[in-house]
Amino acid sequence: MQICRIKPATAVFTALLITCSAGQLGCSDSQGTPDIDTSRASEFGFQQSVRTSQIEEGKVAYQTFCIGCHGVDGDGNGVSARFYHPRPRNFIIARFKLSSTRAGQLPTNEDIRRTIIGGLKGSAMPGWDMLPARTVTALVAYIKTFSPKWQEKSPASAIPFVDDPYRSLEDKSTAIARGEAVFHGYATCWTCHPAYVSKQKINEYLVAMENPARDTFRDNLYRSVGKPDAGGEMIYPTDFKRDFVRAGAQVEVLYRSISTGITGTAMPTWVDSMDVASIHDSNVQLTSSADLWAMAYYVQSLVLTRPARLDPNNLDIRPRPQIILQPGEAFVPILEDIDTGATDEEFSEDD
Ligand code: HEC
Ligand code: HEC
Repeated sequence: MQICRIKPATAVFTALLITCSAGQLGCSDSQGTPDIDTSRASEFGFQQSVRTSQIEEGKVAYQTFCIGCHGVDGDGNGVSARFYHPRPRNFIIARFKLSSTRAGQLPTNEDIRRTIIGGLKGSAMPGWDMLPARTVTALVAYIKTFSPKWQEKSPASAIPFVDDPYRSLEDKSTAIARGEAVFHGYATCWTCHPAYVSKQKINEYLVAMENPARDTFRDNLYRSVGKPDAGGEMIYPTDFKRDFVRAGAQVEVLYRSISTGITGTAMPTWVDSMDVASIHDSNVQLTSSADLWAMAYYVQSLVLTRPARLDPNNLDIRPRPQIILQPGEAFVPILEDIDTGATDEEFSEDD
């Protein structure tokens, strides 16, 4: 390419210059247009080979970084998977929890990228922000080869992001107060998550939102209710004052998680339920999609109280699966010390 800039003195150079200016040899012309003509390459399967090598690259990265948890075949059964709760994702079933699409739909590439880079807080899934962007892209392409669903299902689009009406407010307390009312009185998120206000207050919120007051409430109202996920694994809805939110506690992220719901778990999609002005014609100020933001601010305010709750005398342990066995595997507890027949003397001699 250097040759293009040399003043041609001979016929040979002149011939080269002509070739260069025609753009055939991959030289820049004086306007600085790109020096590689990719328009022809695709005719020879260029795009296809780029994709193949991307998947190859993803496979190498997967086998280096991900296989121990997600397994050789992507089934979530890597050698260390049994030690984790929740378990690593099974990419064959392709039920991705966190996405910008509605629960039940496939995530976008950008959603998977975000999870790989950021990890999922409060689970074993690490953040891989040390990997170069192209490796992450290659991993996304490779993960998608595990499941036929990527061919069978049509790609889903992200949920609408309505404007945050509280963004410009310095003081978010109106948003938080509104969120508390909607959380307890309209969406009754406490049927799964814990409630965070008194029973009397819940009833006030219920009535204010045109719902009947309750005489009785569920047991353990201030704890979350375990719900098996689609794979049968017991999942506890987040206690926002104690547990990590997987995808992050930024208000935009909470807005997204609440709006979309969480695929394969009990967590419903709320974006379609909140625009209820038409349902409640009598009281238009009831709830609207802006209330998704209010709940996001409210949940964030609960998350922010966490450090105060990390008092060791104030931690309660809820039931968790104790031993996770592989299918067909039996657990035989060791009830007594095993007698190896070795004496203390023998051990000290070995030393
Ligand atoms: C130490 C174990 C571990 C390693 C290593 C690991 N993961 Fe995960 N991964 C998990 C667990 C556990 C989950 C499920 C977390 C949950 O359900 O909250 C998960 C979930 C995921 C998800 C699904 C997110 C969703 O929305 O459902 C993706 C995608 C993912 N991992 C990609 C990767 C990639 C790519 C690598 C390698 C670069 C990797 N993981 C390495 C444990 C791991
Ligand atoms: C039918 C049960 C159920 C109801 C009702 C419910 N949730 Fe959830 N929610 C869950 C479960 C289960 C999870 C945990 C999923 C997981 O960790 O895999 C969850 C998780 C979440 C998360 C955490 C997302 C993350 O990044 O980890 C947020 C935020 C959330 N719910 C908000 C709400 C709000 C707000 C409401 C009411 C509008 C609500 N939920 C109603 C079951 C429910």
